[in-house]
Amino acid sequence: MQELQQILDQALQQFAAISDEAELEQVKAKYLGKEGSLTALLKGLGKLSAEERPAAGARINQVKQGIEAALQQRRDALQQSKLAQKLAAEALDVTLPGRGLGSGGLHPVTRTLERIEQLFHSLGFATASGPEIERDFYNFTALNIPENHPARAMHDTFYIDPQHVLRTHTSPVQVRYMEANQPPLKIISPGRVYRFDSDATHSPMFHQVEGLWVDEEISFANLKGVVQDFLQRFFERDDLRVRFRPSFFPFTEPSAEMDMSWKDGWLEIGGCGMVHPNVLKHVNIDSEKYLGFAFGLGVERLAMLRYGVSDLRQFYESDLRFLKQFN
Ligand code: FA5
Repeated sequence: MQELQQILDQALQQFAAISDEAELEQVKAKYLGKEGSLTALLKGLGKLSAEERPAAGARINQVKQGIEAALQQRRDALQQSKLAQKLAAEALDVTLPGRGLGSGGLHPVTRTLERIEQLFHSLGFATASGPEIERDFYNFTALNIPENHPARAMHDTFYIDPQHVLRTHTSPVQVRYMEANQPPLKIISPGRVYRFDSDATHSPMFHQVEGLWVDEEISFANLKGVVQDFLQRFFERDDLRVRFRPSFFPFTEPSAEMDMSWKDGWLEIGGCGMVHPNVLKHVNIDSEKYLGFAFGLGVERLAMLRYGVSDLRQFYESDLRFLKQFN
């Protein structure tokens, strides 16, 4: 029976060293399984004499119970530690500080638009708006650009259907506003416009700000004065170089292109002129009594000059490293 004590000691030792549940069940078989050492001893009881048998049987059963109890204890302990590990891994530390929200900023073109609006409001202009999907009539015909006129080819137009285009400029707002309002009129109209166009100074979607001032005594000198005044304030430079170049637009007469000094040359920032009498006629404004000027500025071009950006397309690549510089 010396042997029994040894078996018990060995079992307890082995159980204590195991940290895996499956392994524990395997080791259990070594003692209590069909081929187990304790089972073998029980089987051997038959060989003992009738006097020896009860005491030996009781002793083996005692050890068997001891092993079973140790086994159960170890199972419980392993399960406990597994649970504790799981809880620790899933623990939520409510005392950690929050991650915080990244702060966004305004897009440089939005900033430029806001600045333009502010300056023109201070010069007495109100803001008007019009649709981006525009009727061919407003984008062209009412602006003295009849069908088949070569000027339609000047704009690389996106057509929605034969009657509708993505407006190629903000000038249709002039017509819409004059249809609905009588002079004196003094508005700007900022917004998106679209052309099939893309290089360092052209993008397929860009912004223009239209300007329109119609009253009884408006001259080209007023136009130059307003535009120059605006540009000097916009760039905060009194010595700013602006150039008016004779040009052609079907809806203004005379017409000019406005350029600003850029790098070693000039960058065209907009077109302008005196509203053509045919456009006034379309909206029933007496062109004998009223005169007006209009202009259309390229907003991205102004932003490029103000911020020193050399490729206009960068504004629309959504690269945060670029965009963050403006905030
Ligand atoms: C016009 O669009 C006329 N509607 C402007 C006008 C208004 C003239 C009122 C007379 C009276 P133009 O096509 O030149 O004109 O465009 C005006 C300005 O928009 C250009 O000077 C340029 O600064 C800008 N621009 C033109 N195309 C692009 C483009 N693809 N990407 C960025 N800016 C552009």
